[in-house]
Amino acid sequence: MAQQQTDKFKKIISHAKEYGFIFPSSEIYDGLSAVYDYGQNGVLLKNNIRDYWWKSMVQLHDDIVGIDSAIFMHPTTWKASGHVDAFNDPLIDNKVSKKRYRADVLVEDYVSKIEAKIEKEIDKASKRYGDSFDEKQFRSTNPRVKSYSEKANSILKRLGKSLEDENLADVKALIDELEIPCPESGSKDWTDVKQFNLMFGTKLGASVDTAMDLYLRPETAQGIFVNFLNIQKTGRMKLPFGIAQTGKAFRNEIVARQFIFRMREFEQMEMQFFIPPGTQKEWYDKWKNNRLKWHLALDMGKEKYRFHDHEKLAHYADAATDIEFRFPFGFKELEGIHSRTDFDLSNHEKYTGKKLQYFDPEQNKNYIPYVVETSIGLDRMFLAVFSNSLSEEIIEGGTSRIVLKLPPALAPIKVAILPLVKKDGLPELAHKISRNLKWDLTTAYDEKDAVGRRYRRQDALGTPYCVTVDHQSLNDKTVTIRERDSMNQERVSIDNLTELIGKKVSVKSLLEKLV
Ligand code: GAP
Repeated sequence: MAQQQTDKFKKIISHAKEYGFIFPSSEIYDGLSAVYDYGQNGVLLKNNIRDYWWKSMVQLHDDIVGIDSAIFMHPTTWKASGHVDAFNDPLIDNKVSKKRYRADVLVEDYVSKIEAKIEKEIDKASKRYGDSFDEKQFRSTNPRVKSYSEKANSILKRLGKSLEDENLADVKALIDELEIPCPESGSKDWTDVKQFNLMFGTKLGASVDTAMDLYLRPETAQGIFVNFLNIQKTGRMKLPFGIAQTGKAFRNEIVARQFIFRMREFEQMEMQFFIPPGTQKEWYDKWKNNRLKWHLALDMGKEKYRFHDHEKLAHYADAATDIEFRFPFGFKELEGIHSRTDFDLSNHEKYTGKKLQYFDPEQNKNYIPYVVETSIGLDRMFLAVFSNSLSEEIIEGGTSRIVLKLPPALAPIKVAILPLVKKDGLPELAHKISRNLKWDLTTAYDEKDAVGRRYRRQDALGTPYCVTVDHQSLNDKTVTIRERDSMNQERVSIDNLTELIGKKVSVKSLLEKLV
């Protein structure tokens, strides 16, 4: 990461802690690597993201239902799903620092540095040429940018091929050829690359002899597959239809860093869409568009997203793409869309001996459905939203303010009620307004410090609206309402507050953009 990016990322992490969004887990014991707790504001933001996802999937689609399956599953599930044999990361140790790394991530980080150089060239040129700058043309004609891109692409292509062929010796050769040093010691003395399974094991049962080996689920998807027939039959579902769920997943990630980007305990929001075989291309394209639209509705900037089609396919997929987001450390996977064929249901059929088929009345035959899945990490989405929203602005008089420009529908607190002074009946009226707004909105009440400082506090929390109660409010039942981003203030009737604010901060305002 370039120094500027590192500094920005550090600010994001410390802001998340300072304002009650995210804390390192068990911090008083010095924390646990890659495990985090959500604080009083973080949990609200996280719930709002989950709510937006859930409503967009389950509430807006007649053909998608939701479930909540258990984290513990029969251990054979993971044999059938391929996770026991194939859910591995290629690892490499540095002989000097004794640190272990994901070999593919070392190479990808090397490529990110090349990409950062490209971005720097583009930044420079864009400043030089101003409005007449054509980024697309610059990328395809500037000799330096072209040569960086070619180098980055050829490295990624070779890495993809080596991983696909399970040619770990070539991954090692690539690291040697690129002379990638250990980020800790700077040494280029590496061991061979080896595979390492990412699932966490645990035990079920009281006695050592009879205890059963279990895994903590590494994805929520299998809870959906094993319930396919239960749901299809009890819900009398006709293909095509989807099953959605959100919940915790666990992976023994070796490269656990970049804050909540890669965690050991995290939450997924997954939807499996069951379809007739042969229609997977059509549904894969539909879900790609549909999911991108979901992201774009948040208005965080179209240029922040791109698709990255996989060269190396997971063991279950016949096509796969990532929606990548421009995080502070570059473009990285935010969501995966996978055409999973009938791999999972067929294997569960094989391992259980139970038929997991669908009778298609139109085709008058039984078959195992194909599946297109959409899978997004809730914590990763949190990081995308949070990091994109945090900004520092110079305002009137040359002072600066830190403002978290969260999409209003996701903001933890929708409105803060601030009595101008702590006397003359203003706190009483402010409390009354707050009580009325609470039926529909999350509110905060603050009477400490000068009103300007209170605005700053709410800006830093991402609160889209502040309502100030002053002496005039006592006479004419009006208040001022201040909008976070523009800082514009308007005088409005107290009676109109719920409607006025509610419309702008409701999840409905996002959902309406999807249909
Ligand atoms: N069921 C398919 C599946 O699990 P995946 O690409 O391994 O696919 C899907 O994971 C999404 O889950 C990723 O796009 C990412 O957002 C999130 N995710 C995966 N591993 C994660 C981790 N260690 N920490 C946080 N989020 C993670």
